[in-house]
Amino acid sequence: MAGPVAVPGGRQVAPSILSADFARLGEQVDEVLAAGARVIHVDVMDGDFVPPITIGPLIVDAIAERVHDAGAVVDCHLMIERPEAQVAEFADAGADSITIHAEATAHLNRVVDVIHESGCNAGVAINPGTPVGALDAIAADCDLLLCMSVNPGWGGQAFVAGSLGKLRAMAAMADGAVVEVDGGIDPATGPDAAAAGTDWFVAGSAIFGKADPAVAYREIADAVGAG
Ligand code: DX5
Ligand code: ZN
Repeated sequence: MAGPVAVPGGRQVAPSILSADFARLGEQVDEVLAAGARVIHVDVMDGDFVPPITIGPLIVDAIAERVHDAGAVVDCHLMIERPEAQVAEFADAGADSITIHAEATAHLNRVVDVIHESGCNAGVAINPGTPVGALDAIAADCDLLLCMSVNPGWGGQAFVAGSLGKLRAMAAMADGAVVEVDGGIDPATGPDAAAAGTDWFVAGSAIFGKADPAVAYREIADAVGAG
């Protein structure tokens, strides 16, 4: 199997399709790709790790070709229990990176290995209530470190201010891994997260909740100094 695709470098704003209009999903993804997005974020929820049920490999498969044709990547964020059982399906559907939660498995090291063996880049996420130290033993094996700056489960929540200190600590431990922030990012909160050392900025409602997602994408990208 081919190795993982290259991780887009520099600062990136990653539109989360969680807030997209699913009746026009392809069109909306095309709009943000045309505006410059090179990371499309897919929020997978299982009704167990978090209360809502959202989307799965079928949607990854539905958007992967157009994302890849634009030179962009599909960034899958699994808010699910026992993610080890689902990695292969997401990889086969076209995921480029798969991020699991430190709180969701007793076997972080093994799941990160499984993700790499599937041909994807591997990330580990931590909730607002989880200390950065939960990443100590796994960070060196990760391609992405994701800091939840809201409690996972819903778009449109307010940025948890204590996330900035965690982002600084994650940037210090990253050693080449991408530091990703997820939740409550908009043109006002993004610059502080950028100053804390963040590389990728997930934004859902602040892009797809706006009348013109392309314009909204550019406003956040300009605010954080992304492409
Ligand atoms: C929350 C998800 C986020 C969500 C962010 O559980 O992981 O990716 O889409 O939404 P906003 O940008 O609206 O806070
Ligand atoms: Zn997410």
